[in-house]
Amino acid sequence: MKRLYFNEVVTRDGFQIEPEFIPTDDKVALIDALSQCGYAKIEATSFTSPKAIPMLRDAEEVMGRIQRVPGVEYTVLVPNLRGAERALESRADELNLVMSTSETHNLANLRMGREKSFEALAAVVKHVDGRTPINVSLSTCFGCPMEGDVPAAEVMRFARRFADLGVRGLTICDTTGMAHPAQVQALVEALQQALPHTELTLHFHNTRGMGLANVLAAVQGGIIRFDGSLGGLGGCPYAPGASGNICSEDAIHMLDAMGYDTGIKLEHLLQVARALPSVVGHAVPGQLAKAGRITDLHPAPTYVADLRRAA
Ligand code: COA
Ligand code: ZN
Repeated sequence: MKRLYFNEVVTRDGFQIEPEFIPTDDKVALIDALSQCGYAKIEATSFTSPKAIPMLRDAEEVMGRIQRVPGVEYTVLVPNLRGAERALESRADELNLVMSTSETHNLANLRMGREKSFEALAAVVKHVDGRTPINVSLSTCFGCPMEGDVPAAEVMRFARRFADLGVRGLTICDTTGMAHPAQVQALVEALQQALPHTELTLHFHNTRGMGLANVLAAVQGGIIRFDGSLGGLGGCPYAPGASGNICSEDAIHMLDAMGYDTGIKLEHLLQVARALPSVVGHAVPGQLAKAGRITDLHPAPTYVADLRRAA
């Protein structure tokens, strides 16, 4: 059974676009519940400007209060040196730096051009100096909602530059669900060939209903690491039209059914997923929590027994 590794991003990507502030107690309780489900990694929060992402202004408190489970890595999103210092102080297990491969989205999200971002993040890598592993999330790798096409060559160029800095991993993000499976297949092949020593994670959004098809294309292309968000919540507030990530439990259920080992206790995860609408105060896009697993059967109507006897 091929082992796959899931990173749960609901309390970061999932919550950052929610309109109503989610109390710190609820965030901590949710992360603690997710820690019992078998995830390889949990992206707990982000150390961004509280003006840019008010939902995650309680990042220090969240990191200080969660119960860390051995074997689970607690990663955090970091946009700049200030964020890196806050993350180190909070003893994050990994710093997940972020920039966009689209100039327009980088300006909208991080308020600077890509070259300036790259230089600033290179300075962060130097500053951290191996004390904590570093992952870099590259946004809009399959298309930008404002610019359109992002050439694969641009994605490869930034991926190579970060790999040359010695970062442990790269997350290839489809920020607004523009990827399609043929594109995913081609890009993951090129990335794995060019960067055989870099841990690659794929981060999909289901904005146009292609999320699970893209997961399948990636896994069949050899990718073993995925981001997912409980209930399918999520989206970048600085990407017009953004909507939810792929739903973790839906993706994990599909991969389990296909015989992959996701490490996740699905029954346990479903219990956590079913409590999510009451945390955010509205219904969520995920389907498995509503439908149940393919093994959760219903009793046949009583007349079926009569028909069976008569047959
Ligand atoms: N943590 C806390 N505060 C921070 C910060 C950080 N990492 N980085 C900047 N700030 C504060 C500054 O102290 C300053 O505060 P002040 O107005 O009270 O003086 C304010 O934010 C602006 O700082 P500046 O350096 O001018 O940044 P900016 O306005 O150019 O914003 C970012 C740049 C990257 C900090 C900001 O846009 C950001 O945090 N974006 C997050 C984007 C994100 O997470 N998107 C979703 C995920 S893809
Ligand atoms: Zn995302």
